[in-house]
Amino acid sequence: MSKKPNTFLRFEVMQRIEHILLILSFSTLGLTGLPQKFPTAGISLFIVSLFGGIEIVRVVHRVAATLFMLEAIYHLVDAGYRLYVRRQAASMLPGPDDVRDALKAFLYNLGIARSRPKMGRFNFVEKAEYWAVVWGLLIMAVTGFMLWNPVATSLVLPGQAIPAAKAAHGAEAILAVLAILIWHFYHVHLKKLNLSIFTGRVSLEEMEEEHAAELEKILQGEQQKAVDDAKLRKRKAIYLPIAAVFSLAMLYGVYRFVTLEQTAITTIPPKESPVEIFVPQTATPAPSPTAKAVSNEAPLQVVSQPMDISIMVLTGTWSEGIEGIVASSCSTRDDARNALDLNNSSG
Ligand code: HEM
Repeated sequence: MSKKPNTFLRFEVMQRIEHILLILSFSTLGLTGLPQKFPTAGISLFIVSLFGGIEIVRVVHRVAATLFMLEAIYHLVDAGYRLYVRRQAASMLPGPDDVRDALKAFLYNLGIARSRPKMGRFNFVEKAEYWAVVWGLLIMAVTGFMLWNPVATSLVLPGQAIPAAKAAHGAEAILAVLAILIWHFYHVHLKKLNLSIFTGRVSLEEMEEEHAAELEKILQGEQQKAVDDAKLRKRKAIYLPIAAVFSLAMLYGVYRFVTLEQTAITTIPPKESPVEIFVPQTATPAPSPTAKAVSNEAPLQVVSQPMDISIMVLTGTWSEGIEGIVASSCSTRDDARNALDLNNSSG
């Protein structure tokens, strides 16, 4: 029997590049989105200042979102090529085997089952993650569109849909970031450091543990079935024009998505008010008909306002004449004192 290889090719170069772009775009989206959701948190203020201000954070979020959508288009076209032209198995599709594997893995982890489940190219954990990303991207793209283009959205949906989209977008962001930090990091870094998405290769030991069913197929030579060149060319000739039209339509969709309206990104400077709100009063010495002369020293001056509101400015001391004024207009001396006290305390 021939010796088993030590490592197996798991990801081709383009798949690895795709994953690096996904890491970059997703981390940037989380880093620029979460500070907007929690704007008063110290860490948010720090991140925003690192970027150079909230305006830059918002623009960077949109650039990363555009990259995220472009990757999704590339991924769709590539998946179509693998399935239709290269006739690879749809190994990411979930099926009843995954339920059986999940149950067996659960029992194995509890020490009840004696062996691990024999899993295929993608195990149930990887499939769950993959479809969570697909689902998350759809939610983020739809709600992101609504936040990006609120006017266009409110042409077809009621206005309440915009804050609802904001709530869904923010909540899904928390879910997605936590799923990556807890679920994904545990499975690919903590449980066992798996670098196959960067190196492209996976060890024999890992194949035996996580993808035993796939390993059996590889060793039986099922994966290396010769591809008929003529059939391949024929399928390419059908697929590539369809993929080109689809890609162009999707790219146009992304172009419209990001250019449709600028309402939610343009920062409108506060409008200059033509009305002077605070006008300090200046005393105008012109007497009004309501002025009262009290004595020769004129302890009382009357300031006339443009709207004919008279303000009395009292000068002098109580005994120098003020007493006389209030006594004449107040019923008792105590009332007069109270009135004066009130006047002094408010001044
Ligand atoms: C197609 C993908 C996406 C698009 C089009 C998109 C677009 C947007 C837009 C337009 C906003 C409003 C912010 C502003 O007006 O500047 C926003 C906010 C936000 N985004 Fe995204 N985004 C996408 C993906 C993501 C992802 C993957 C995450 C997280 C990992 C994320 C996290 C957030 C968060 C947390 C907010 C703040 C929500 C709030 O204020 O409650 N976004 N996004």
